[in-house]
Amino acid sequence: MPILSRQPAFTVKRSDFPKDFVFGSSTSAYQIEGSSFGGCGSSHWDSFAASKGNVANFENGSIACDHYTRWEGDLDLMKDLGLDAYRFSSSWARILPQANGETNKEGLDFYDRLVDGLLERGIAPHLTLYHWELPSYLADIGGWRNRDVGDYFADYAEIMIKCLGDRLASVATFNEPWCVTWLSHYHGMHAPGLRDIRAASRTAHLVPVAHGKAMAAMRALGQEELGVVLNFEHTSPYDDNPSSAKAAELEEGILNRWFLSAFTKGKYPDTVLDHIEAYLPNDWQDDMAQIATPLDWMGVNYYTRTLVSAGESHLGSALPLSITHHGGLPRTEMDWEVYPEGLGEILCWIRDNYTHDTPLAITENGMANKDMLVGDAVDDQERIAYLDAHFNSALKAIDKGVPLKAYFVWSLMDNFEWSFGFDKRFGIIHVDFDSLQRTPKASYHALQHMLSHEKPH
Ligand code: FCB
Repeated sequence: MPILSRQPAFTVKRSDFPKDFVFGSSTSAYQIEGSSFGGCGSSHWDSFAASKGNVANFENGSIACDHYTRWEGDLDLMKDLGLDAYRFSSSWARILPQANGETNKEGLDFYDRLVDGLLERGIAPHLTLYHWELPSYLADIGGWRNRDVGDYFADYAEIMIKCLGDRLASVATFNEPWCVTWLSHYHGMHAPGLRDIRAASRTAHLVPVAHGKAMAAMRALGQEELGVVLNFEHTSPYDDNPSSAKAAELEEGILNRWFLSAFTKGKYPDTVLDHIEAYLPNDWQDDMAQIATPLDWMGVNYYTRTLVSAGESHLGSALPLSITHHGGLPRTEMDWEVYPEGLGEILCWIRDNYTHDTPLAITENGMANKDMLVGDAVDDQERIAYLDAHFNSALKAIDKGVPLKAYFVWSLMDNFEWSFGFDKRFGIIHVDFDSLQRTPKASYHALQHMLSHEKPH
């Protein structure tokens, strides 16, 4: 498999970015904390992982990086790195472990201490409320297919804001509604592991509804800097065949436009609606105004591109089948093509067509790499090259006037990469999953160097 050329340091300088540009790292609760600690309740990721075949090597997030007990050391590493900000998520199942609605004080205290610990170290806390661990008792009543879950989500949002709101730099409702919907309810690759067009279609609508409800609840408490985080792939037809253009249009509509258009315009794209409207809840149109409540900012997660052609329709596929291809670019350990240009292009496309003056943040970007710990070093030059290329692409978007305010690297440390278990290492800090020891990689040191030099005053 081709890898990126080796590169010792970043070509970009901190001073190439606007003065107030924010550099941070991202993680999520289930991937790092350890779901068996501190009175955390069971989530659908625990039960999904407990069914053999769903996660590589039959692994799960019960211990993960044990960030729940090691958080102070992790925060120190962030401070030494010179980060301005940290994007983390709170675990709903940790906060409200049982159906009785009682808050787990120990869980809330954990996030309270975490936020204070960040502020003490000069790092701005950015909270995501839902990064995928739905409490099991809500999965039992149909999860996101059930409209009531949106009300429970708004209650949970209120609890978090009442506890932490005075100290948060921003709040996102959802991380990657596409994954919550399609990857989890249609492709069956994430919890709850369904392959059901009706389940996926209802989720495609009821997640935005839940977002709207949580936004309203948080606004009512006076909370500011509210947004949502969406994932994007640069999507284009594989070849000149008109059927490929059609397939790419549908794929792009599902992947890039459904949620973006709902949140910013209160409309779903017709290309997708034509295929799934029959499965949406009755009177779905009545929800659109609340879904499109104004965003203070929007997060963009970007990793790769996809090339699409039409597949043979066959019995059992609810949507016209499309095939995704590689196009000869270098690939990461996830087998994702490295296409940095796509980041800048997508940022411009989002701004021009949807968000206009609304501030944007790159909330995730990074690569999985075959990182080897040799002695006490991990020489992940490929990651340095990957990040550098994406920094350059982001700079191009800034030059074109995109109001891009922040960049968060995925991820601070190696962690539980969902259905890939611990096999795929995305961190700029290496984690030994036996000893749980942390070792900063070469990319960490390169970033540290970039951030500490020429810091604008
Ligand atoms: C994103 C997820 C994040 C991580 C990265 C690699 O889709 O938000 O949790 O899995 O991909």
